Amino acid sequence: MTLNRRAFLTSTAAGVAAAAIPTRFAIGNTAKIKIGVMMPFTGTFASLGEMGANGLKLALAMQGNRLGGREVEFVILDDESEPSRAPANATRLVKSDGVDVLFGTVHSGVAMGMVKVARETGALLVIPNAGVGAATGALCAPNIFRTSFTNWQPAFPMGKIAYERGYRKIVSMTWKYGAGEEAIAGFKEGFEAAGGAVIKEITVPFPNVEFQANLAEIAALKPDAVFTFFAGGGAVKFVKDYAAAGLKQSIPLLGSGFLTEGTLAAQGDAAEGILTTLHYADGLDASANQSFRAAFAQAYGKEADIYAVQGFDAGLLLSQGFSAVKGDTTNRPALYAAMERAVIDSPRGLMTFSPSHNPVQDIYLRKVRNGQNEVIGIAARNLSDPARGCKMTG
Ligand code: PHB
Repeated sequence: MTLNRRAFLTSTAAGVAAAAIPTRFAIGNTAKIKIGVMMPFTGTFASLGEMGANGLKLALAMQGNRLGGREVEFVILDDESEPSRAPANATRLVKSDGVDVLFGTVHSGVAMGMVKVARETGALLVIPNAGVGAATGALCAPNIFRTSFTNWQPAFPMGKIAYERGYRKIVSMTWKYGAGEEAIAGFKEGFEAAGGAVIKEITVPFPNVEFQANLAEIAALKPDAVFTFFAGGGAVKFVKDYAAAGLKQSIPLLGSGFLTEGTLAAQGDAAEGILTTLHYADGLDASANQSFRAAFAQAYGKEADIYAVQGFDAGLLLSQGFSAVKGDTTNRPALYAAMERAVIDSPRGLMTFSPSHNPVQDIYLRKVRNGQNEVIGIAARNLSDPARGCKMTG
């Protein structure tokens, strides 16, 4: 174990109490636990990154900014939702900054770079949003956990719902990258199993928001409905453009719930009536939800959304794990075992983890009414991602 100058000073300052216990443990126990917060703080996902990071900070602040008795320190990095820089950014956090935990990120492509670095270095990675299937699928690992969803998870149940609503021919539209493609595939799996057909899959490059030509194509195709994956700034633009193009009245718009998360104020009337499926809704009647929302609003002056919830839950998960090992970051097997067993009192309801380290959770059917995502049904109960290709070793 290497002892850096700050850890040495901290342990020295801890004084007599630290001197009474074995040196190795005293040092490990008094140095701060460093969390590398690698999120997008600029670009189309900037607000998602900020909400997730604030959710994490809130959960830890509620524990006195400690994990397993050790003080927490954050190293913040803006990943700009840029996949090509992700491996170097994550490597820097682990190797140069010496973080104990990698927390991130929002964008599936960037998360893939973090997964690579986590697998290579053994660093603990907690993913508070990005839904890329491989992270808890083919590339699953003992040191990789996710507190959000897989891209398949919220999209798949919408397939059956769309069919039950009488839709038979659907056009999909998304950004051409991992999350969009996986969400469309999840929807399609559910919709086609029910008997429907996705007649056209439209994609635009990420993070483009020039949708006019595609909206004209949708108008010409006249599908029964449109299913989409967009989020953040892009979701605001898409929903407004869809309404402005005159499609809203004639062709119902469906989506993974990200389409209307943290975006409703900016979307205004254009969002009214949109149906989405997601593992959360603001007004959810879960025991932890009201207190969480009040605390978040008080701390940050903003209404919480799903991204804040997922960051908060990452903090709760880390807290349970590090408490079990009393802050001893070297006791990896016990740390991961405690995280696997964790039951999180999440604002979304009680949450557990699948063997592949992805949440098992209810998916809600929501409809935008008066500027709110109102829960109008349960789309799926205790839904677990199929975790295709996951072989947990080590
Ligand atoms: C993703 O890239 O995995 C992603 C991004 C934004 C969302 C959901 C998923 O809201």
